[in-house]
Amino acid sequence: MAPMALALILGWWVVAASVAKKLPPPSLSLHPSQGVSLGGAVTLRCHLPQSAARVEFYKEESWGPVKQEDVDMAQDVAEFTLDGVKKEDAVKYCCQYRVSKPRGTSELSDPVELVLTDPNYPPPAISLSPKEPVETGANVTIQCCNGEYKGITFLHKDGLSAPLQHQKPDGGGTATFTLFEVTPADSGTYRCSYRIGGFYLLSSPLGENVTLEVTPLPGSQGDSGWPHGTLVAAVAGSCAAAFAFILVLVASFLLAARRRRIQSPGATPRSYEAVQFQVPPADSQALTYAELQTLTPSTPPPGSFTTPEPPTIYAEVGTGGPH
Ligand SMILES: *[C@@H]1O[C@H](CO)[C@@H](O)[C@H](O)[C@H]1NC(C)=O
Ligand SMILES: *[C@@H]1O[C@H](CO)[C@@H](O)[C@H](O)[C@H]1NC(C)=O
Repeated sequence: MAPMALALILGWWVVAASVAKKLPPPSLSLHPSQGVSLGGAVTLRCHLPQSAARVEFYKEESWGPVKQEDVDMAQDVAEFTLDGVKKEDAVKYCCQYRVSKPRGTSELSDPVELVLTDPNYPPPAISLSPKEPVETGANVTIQCCNGEYKGITFLHKDGLSAPLQHQKPDGGGTATFTLFEVTPADSGTYRCSYRIGGFYLLSSPLGENVTLEVTPLPGSQGDSGWPHGTLVAAVAGSCAAAFAFILVLVASFLLAARRRRIQSPGATPRSYEAVQFQVPPADSQALTYAELQTLTPSTPPPGSFTTPEPPTIYAEVGTGGPH
């Protein structure tokens, strides 16, 4: 396990060093990010990690990316608006920038899908079971039916830009999504859509909504009054920080251990024991988790009556290898 992680980290350094000569890629975003209808408008925004001389937008065609627009620029965001979009525009896009001094070209951004809504397709029907408010820990199913179209069905939650789940419907055109062991954070409004097959990324309109209400367990701290967005951002931030921290930690442990082993080949690398890995037996994806404690502030924020338990965060530190 440890030598494999070491090989992964060293491998990453080699790769990072070899691509260092290419400029880092920009990132592309769509505005609005979903729900653009045929005939509507969408803006592609290329976010640059540094200022650039030119930005190029590419559109994926069946034979590869095709340059769409060439924007001269000095800022760190370039925009390109598509007006009156047609079904042929419902493909993937990416962008790239060039700098003049010293001359250089960036990597292409990750591709972004422009999914267009085609109002000619009927929105899917949706049903929630159970319909009544449920307690934390219950399993909830949401069924979406798109009848004869049998497109890949997507489950959306209002307020989130990306679909939560997607699946192929059964022979009758019904997709069944299960939300296992729901928590109050799963409360909200859900809808479905389905993708019409083919090369172009076309979707049905979003259907009717269902509302899930999850009641907190009695005596649980539940929402401590934080707005959801802040909570999500805080959790995401802690996860990212914890992930970075464990990477640095593992890398330094492994390097220190490796150096010691090189200097004294007979010595056992004791520092491996300092990081304890926990591999759940049911984990089939060869992921490894390390348990971290997050820091809790030493002085509670004013107005807070509860001392929340330090959350446990599972950071993914190594993937893909055989056990
Ligand atoms: C929820 O589904 C899981 C997996 O099927 C099952 O183990 C669990 O008992 C279910 N929980 C409830 C409350 O039905
Ligand atoms: C959900 O649908 C109902 C009608 O079925 C509608 O009255 C309500 O406004 C919708 N809620 C949202 C958040 O769109």
